[in-house]
Amino acid sequence: MTSERLLIVSNRLPVTATLVDGRVEMRPSSGGLATGLTPWHESSNGLWIGWPGDAHDADPTERAALDEELNARRIVPLHFDVEAVQRHYHGFANRVLWPLCHYLIDRVPVDATGWEAYRQANAAFAEVVAYHYRPGDTIWVHDYQLMLLPAMLRDRLPGARIGFFLHVPFPSSEVFRILPWRHELLVGLLGADLLGFHTFAYLRHFVASLLHVDGIETEIDRVRLKDHEVRLGVFPMGIDAPRFSALAREPDVIADVAAIRQDAGGRRIVLGVDRLDYTKGIPRRLHAIETLLAAEPALRDQLRYIQVAVPSRGEVDSYRRFRTQVEESVGRINGQFGTLRSTPVHYVHQSVSERQLVALYGAADVMLVTPLRDGMNLVSKEYVASQTGDEGVLVLSEFAGAAAELDGAVVVNPYDVEAVAGAIRRALAMPEGERRSRMQRLRKRVVEHDVHAWAAAFLTALDEARPPASGRAARRPPPSLTAALDAALALPRLRVLLDYDGTLVPFARSPGLAGPDEDLLTLLRDLAARPGIEIDIVSGRPRDTMEVWLGELPVALWAEHGYWWRPRGSESWKAAAHLDPTWMARLTPILEQFSRTTPGSFVEAKTASVAWHYRRASRDFGARQAHELRMLLGDALSNQPFEVLEGKKVVEVRLRGVSKAAVGRHVSEPTETPTAVVAFGDDRTDEDLFRALPASAVTVAVGHSRSQATHGVADHLAVRAALRYLLDSGSPEQ
Ligand code: UDP
Ligand code: G6P
Repeated sequence: MTSERLLIVSNRLPVTATLVDGRVEMRPSSGGLATGLTPWHESSNGLWIGWPGDAHDADPTERAALDEELNARRIVPLHFDVEAVQRHYHGFANRVLWPLCHYLIDRVPVDATGWEAYRQANAAFAEVVAYHYRPGDTIWVHDYQLMLLPAMLRDRLPGARIGFFLHVPFPSSEVFRILPWRHELLVGLLGADLLGFHTFAYLRHFVASLLHVDGIETEIDRVRLKDHEVRLGVFPMGIDAPRFSALAREPDVIADVAAIRQDAGGRRIVLGVDRLDYTKGIPRRLHAIETLLAAEPALRDQLRYIQVAVPSRGEVDSYRRFRTQVEESVGRINGQFGTLRSTPVHYVHQSVSERQLVALYGAADVMLVTPLRDGMNLVSKEYVASQTGDEGVLVLSEFAGAAAELDGAVVVNPYDVEAVAGAIRRALAMPEGERRSRMQRLRKRVVEHDVHAWAAAFLTALDEARPPASGRAARRPPPSLTAALDAALALPRLRVLLDYDGTLVPFARSPGLAGPDEDLLTLLRDLAARPGIEIDIVSGRPRDTMEVWLGELPVALWAEHGYWWRPRGSESWKAAAHLDPTWMARLTPILEQFSRTTPGSFVEAKTASVAWHYRRASRDFGARQAHELRMLLGDALSNQPFEVLEGKKVVEVRLRGVSKAAVGRHVSEPTETPTAVVAFGDDRTDEDLFRALPASAVTVAVGHSRSQATHGVADHLAVRAALRYLLDSGSPEQ
């Protein structure tokens, strides 16, 4: 990474301070964010900015000592008073956002409050981050407690590189838009350069929320806003796998594993390790154990279920009630199924040290990870990394982010108590060969995608989203492309074929809004003025639009995919084929019917084609209607001289034979002067052009769709960078 420092910003710090008998005590924090990021922070040179826990009552000397100790670990503490913590952290973050993101809407209080405190806490973070920021730093904001922070930072530090990672699920847009503050939260997130999620499902939900709540269109991996672009990515978080595996191999941990087994007296060990949180599915899991013990009395003396319930958020009333509920269930099961020799459920309400944890993981025959929803769930991965003997079985909820990744787990619906009981039974009975082969698959994944790989992937994507100042050269075309362009420039004549929408300019919400900017016009004019370089702009747009937008340039224009041609220097257009005037009259009404039933879509009629655009229609419905229309037209036009084309959010019918391929053929006709051809395009129609060009042509696909082009670049900005490269590399010799 080229940045100077990494500033990690999260509500929870790697250590939490509490006041015990008036003295500050520091403990490692619980929860995946803190445990996952700690090894990364330790190996970096950056700062970690966050809330150190309830140390507000400490006397000034104690507090100064605490701050000093934290600073020595490159941690910058942000203290909040009791009331702010109550309203921001316990209040809005944990009473409202947390249950909502986990689909537990009935846990959101009717009088959801705390929004203002949430906003103020985010603003306080913005102030401290801005104070510590130095140009060149990378800011990485974490999780749902700080969703407003990216935009607040963007306001203060317009040029900063800001990433945001969400550790919890981004819920379905149907759930997210319940929030009265949905718009503000989305705007807050869009201040970042890169937004990361654990799974594709969360990313899809985010994209759908942007569309539903604010009508914002996204491309597959980015949102283009007026002033900046926000990249979107999926980065499933990993753990420090080597550390867990190494701990599991230490002699005293191995001795602890043996002690835990001995204590279990030959009974099979089933383990659950969770923060005591209502999202973790503990009551249903206990119920599944109960069901199993009721159905199979023999198991009562053969099974020991250990549940570590790590204390968490005890200030929040729903967590307190939840604890009572769990403890009552444990008592009931032990009362009913305990024998004189054993109690089936061994319940511990406390945190355990890392070594104890690894020993428990090592001793467990079956690990139960059955959250009702979980952003990722690192416990499941820690179990896998600690199972160095490849003997245990992981039972995993299909609603944990980890399920999208961990092939080899026994996947179960945590709401289905019978199914969970069945999964435990199956895990206990699983033959050794199957257990080993599953665990080996799991271990491979967990080891190969550890927390270091995760952070590196995120930070690399962030660097790409906003290249470091010192690395502006990153905007140069990739080396393979510059080499091809150099070779093309070595010939006496160079023809540059350019698609327009999506290639020279980004897509606009309405086709009428995608006019060229001054920068682009200057670049094209300068390039076309170079001796030996000729430019052809090849678009699907009608003649008059091309004329208005690009008519002044000394370039050749091709409209309607090559049906119309206006050679360089000429003012008149030539038609490429003969047209039957009745065809449009037959087709247009069908397309118009689709535009009536699909709000937001519209029909565009041109000379040689008619198109139905659905870019502004609701995403899923628009796509379904497009399939429908394509099927209909495919049937209706099978024997007609027309063809149906699906472009980006457009279905187009055009006269057969009129395609950019014709332009390609025209351009490739032999000439006396040796000519190089370079073509850029982003759409399927451009693939026709690429195919028709000679094999020596340099073809460049824009965006991420699969292409047969010889090269690829990310977006219209990269195309412009390539054109600028041609311009700056001097004109070909005459
Ligand atoms: N953990 C902990 N203290 C304990 C037991 C476990 O901090 O006493 C850790 C555990 O090792 C894991 C994290 O808490 O790294 C839980 O992360 P997970 O992603 O499973 O769930 P979260 O608590 O973040 O919702
Ligand atoms: C989850 C959240 C984290 C949080 C952790 C522990 O992992 O995604 O942001 O830090 O739980 O919760 P706490 O409220 O103690 O920070």
